[in-house]
Amino acid sequence: MSRRQWEETLTLMNEKHGMPALDAKDRETVLGYLEVAFPPRTPAGGGWQNPFLNR
Ligand code: HEM
Repeated sequence: MSRRQWEETLTLMNEKHGMPALDAKDRETVLGYLEVAFPPRTPAGGGWQNPFLNR
């Protein structure tokens, strides 16, 4: 996911699942890791291909 999506996910974990809030420095570290290790998915071949179209 994008950094913004990971930020929203952390906020969701804080607010909905009772995860203790990280301090600003730790949050930066965690977000930096998440955006590099788990970037937005870009499907190989550009996503679903219609098999009935010969392209
Ligand atoms: C760096 C910390 C964390 C990250 C990046 C993270 C990320 C995620 C993600 C991506 C999901 C799947 C959401 C979905 O299905 O759309 C999830 C689910 C969940 N997380 Fe976390 N999480 C973190 C920490 C925590 C902590 C500390 C707790 C509990 C104290 C927690 C509790 C839950 C629960 C209960 C769910 C499943 C319920 C649901 O999907 O709404 N998470 N988490």
